[in-house]
Amino acid sequence: MEHIAQPQISEEEISLVAQTIRSGSFVEGENARTLEKEFAKFVGAKHAICAVNGTAALHLAIEGLNIPPGVEMITSAFTFIASANVITFGGGIPIFADIDPNTFNIDPEKIKKAITPKTRCILPIHIFGLPADMKAISEIATEHDLMIIEDACQAHGGYVDKKHVGTFGDVGCFSFYATKNMITGEGGMVVTNDDELAERIRSLKNHGRGAKGGYHHHLIAYNYRLPDPLAAIGLIQLRKLPRMLEQRRKNAELIRETIAELEPLKAQTIPRGFTHAHYVCAPIIENPGISVNKVISDLRNRGIGSRQIYSIPCHQQPTYLEGIRNWRWNKFVDYPDYSLVRLPVSEKVASSHFEIPIHPGITNDEVMTIQKTLIEIFA
Ligand SMILES: Cc1ncc(COP(=O)(O)O)c(C=O)c1O
Repeated sequence: MEHIAQPQISEEEISLVAQTIRSGSFVEGENARTLEKEFAKFVGAKHAICAVNGTAALHLAIEGLNIPPGVEMITSAFTFIASANVITFGGGIPIFADIDPNTFNIDPEKIKKAITPKTRCILPIHIFGLPADMKAISEIATEHDLMIIEDACQAHGGYVDKKHVGTFGDVGCFSFYATKNMITGEGGMVVTNDDELAERIRSLKNHGRGAKGGYHHHLIAYNYRLPDPLAAIGLIQLRKLPRMLEQRRKNAELIRETIAELEPLKAQTIPRGFTHAHYVCAPIIENPGISVNKVISDLRNRGIGSRQIYSIPCHQQPTYLEGIRNWRWNKFVDYPDYSLVRLPVSEKVASSHFEIPIHPGITNDEVMTIQKTLIEIFA
């Protein structure tokens, strides 16, 4: 419990990796193809396409949809920086809409207010594994003819009314980074139901090749392929995922029960019909008199891993305050002055949350210790 995350690797992964290496399959191959098939089935999508990481998956989604430079894409600022950067890679303009104070996810009402004639796409993030309000977001997208790219990098096992996240929008993206609900170390996946888009993304991740491979290239493209030994890890992890999710859920539910009893704390509210993937448990401290840093160091001193994961929301990162002015697209694209952007809820959640470990490696006794410690600190 001294770690926030702990990869759950057993002999099964090690043995399939060894077998893959012995077979000489280092680049994307049979394991990747099987992982794609099984992942598509797991989330209920027609296509799943491996990528080298979640950032690459998101970049492929944007390139796949052919989103041109200079258009606005609405997203949340309370997230990992990659969610915003993938928009900026190709000259898109990240427009940050504020989050809901209860779910910490993008607020559909704030999306509506952020729409302009330049808006082309909404990029919701299922933060900490809790699905964003995909029904409301889908309605807005339909009404305004916008595309949706779901950043489901944290949400393997997240559902709205039994429909897996990543399958509501035009395309959904997942990360298999070493801390995630299932891992390959570095790795990612794009999912879509659109045959043409899937074909384009397959080509974009493989130097613009066609389905037959070889040295005929059709698109300006990338090499975002997932090495097969990593896909081997993913395959075993995916098969273990339901069990690992169950353990996360048990741990998270017990800790959330304790949080609910402690006055200064507020955890994400899980709307009815939503299944939280429990990637991260990070309540906020509602009493400004309590120092979050002190709480984090108290927890750490008692052997419980804790940190503030996104203390600086994207609009306040040096990347967007200053770095953007040196970015090549700045000459061609009219970026907003991000120092003028005010997102009170994102800023409050960013400065007042702290993370508590819930990963599947935590024992029942450790969950009890975490509960007891939270009561000692906050009761
Ligand atoms: C919300 C979110 N988006 C994007 C990413 C990028 O994924 P990766 O680290 O695999 O590139 C991550 C993960 O780390 C993430 O948490």
